[in-house]
Amino acid sequence: MSSSVLQTLSAHLGAAFAALGLPKNYGRVTTSDKTTPFQCNGALAVAKAAKRAPRDIAALVVALLEDNPDIALAEIAGPGFINLEPSTGLLTKRAGELAADDRVGARNGETLEKIVIDFGGPNVAKPMHVGHLRSSVIGDSLQRLLRFRGHAVVSDIHLGDWGLQMGHLITELEDEQPDLPYFDAGIMDGFPDKSPVTIEDLARLYPLASGKAKDDPQRMARSRKATSELQAGRAGFRALLDHFISVSIAALKVDFAALGVHFDLWKGEAAVDPLIPDMIAQFKKDGHTELSDGALIIRVTEESDKKDLPPLILISSAGAALYATTDLATILDRRDNLHPDTILYVVDFGQSSHFEQVYRAAGKTGLFARDKLEHIKFGTVNGTDGKRFRTRAGGVMRLSDLLSQAKQAAAKRLSEAGLAQDMDAGERAEIARKVGLAAIKFSDLQNVRTTNYIFDLERFTSFEGKTGPYLLYAAVRIKSLLRKAETAGVKPGSIMPKHKSEQKLVLVLDGFNRALAAAETKRMPHIVCEHVYTLAQSFSKFYADCPVLQDGVPGDVKSSRLALSTLTLKQLEIGLDLLGIETPERM
Ligand code: ARG
Repeated sequence: MSSSVLQTLSAHLGAAFAALGLPKNYGRVTTSDKTTPFQCNGALAVAKAAKRAPRDIAALVVALLEDNPDIALAEIAGPGFINLEPSTGLLTKRAGELAADDRVGARNGETLEKIVIDFGGPNVAKPMHVGHLRSSVIGDSLQRLLRFRGHAVVSDIHLGDWGLQMGHLITELEDEQPDLPYFDAGIMDGFPDKSPVTIEDLARLYPLASGKAKDDPQRMARSRKATSELQAGRAGFRALLDHFISVSIAALKVDFAALGVHFDLWKGEAAVDPLIPDMIAQFKKDGHTELSDGALIIRVTEESDKKDLPPLILISSAGAALYATTDLATILDRRDNLHPDTILYVVDFGQSSHFEQVYRAAGKTGLFARDKLEHIKFGTVNGTDGKRFRTRAGGVMRLSDLLSQAKQAAAKRLSEAGLAQDMDAGERAEIARKVGLAAIKFSDLQNVRTTNYIFDLERFTSFEGKTGPYLLYAAVRIKSLLRKAETAGVKPGSIMPKHKSEQKLVLVLDGFNRALAAAETKRMPHIVCEHVYTLAQSFSKFYADCPVLQDGVPGDVKSSRLALSTLTLKQLEIGLDLLGIETPERM
């Protein structure tokens, strides 16, 4: 694959430094937002070692670049910066390469890995909250990005299906339907295939039980007992658990499909329960565990700790395996069955200590290299009142409600903007769905993920500003231009970026790979958002300055501009796809 403009310039500058007997890495070129699009600071950096004034070195370098056909301008600025402008020839060549490339300039990552990505993480029977939504949106974008960069990615939803909520469900169901065979401790097998509960039942039973248990220690004790019996392998309870899990998965699959989020694996905490005894036995044998107040623990403090990190609890004093236990067993399961190089966990900030404990314990016990376990943290989502986001009714969010609200808000916006109004109701609804989803996803992803943000559908669905709908509109506008060109019989030709706005657009397009590489290494989807937004804006400027199909524009210029538009659309759609955002054909 050929080089980006930045790489080409770096190579020329490097050669000039080398010709002066200086290390060529000082020729490294960076982008600039000052007078020229690129600059090189190598003269300043090398001056001391070279025992020469930076401006003198810069002057020698600039002199060497004088006749270089790839460079339109090389000039010294300030104390010894070199400002650089690529030539039209170089931009033309690069634009042609980008247009001919299926991946519009994107390359694979440096070292390709097998990566497991753990995200979503909803809990069986408990409603999803906005933290799960954020995890899903960020995690999905990362899996798309990492795959696109050539990594072998396996995504796993890691359902929360092994905690107290199971004891709550079991006991509450027992109160409602005591005659079911699952509650007879004497029955070991032959349980019905059909679930005794629906997803609605689960959604009703769980809050009922947890509400009762809150003020009633005896009721709580029953749920706890059922949970430990389940964990100890009581047959009827296991059979119920399987039903709860499959009923939940079926419902979640519908929700996640509506969100456009895919998981390769639908495993959960319960799935690794069989691995726990041997894992713990090994930890004990290797001397990693300790008994403390009746609980089996692993100490994870380190000398350099400023704050005390409590020990990881493997088995509680009540004999239960806890969240950290299933997380460790899950690492074991993934290690032995998926052989990942790296495991990513897309989970909110609030669980930082938990993951620190788990990662340290994994490293210490030799389960998995600690620096290959990464907590991809994110901030909370607040409502416009500044408090943690809740739905209008004040309760926890249901994903399906949220999506329909987004779709409604999008439909309202479309009609305000006079968009999609001449279409039939079906197509209009489909466009509103895409706009609503784009609004939610983009406004989440465009934030640096570690920060909190305010959930505001009104703002998210606006067609103006840095929003999903703005980007979809930008893409749709290019699609409509391409259709008009088709009707007018104009064909794309070779790109000749002459106008300043055309040149700027080519440079933005050429920055795609850099944006993806940075987003990959930092695990930060907002860098992709930044790129597609700049791309849409640069296109808009180009389109305002450079008429494409207007009468009087020479044929080869029309074809060039059309090709540049086609290329922009292609990259915009790939970029949006990496964010999990689909574009409609028209609006
Ligand atoms: N179910 C958990 C929760 O709702 C999230 C799971 C995150 N993944 C993990 N491997 N612990 O908080």
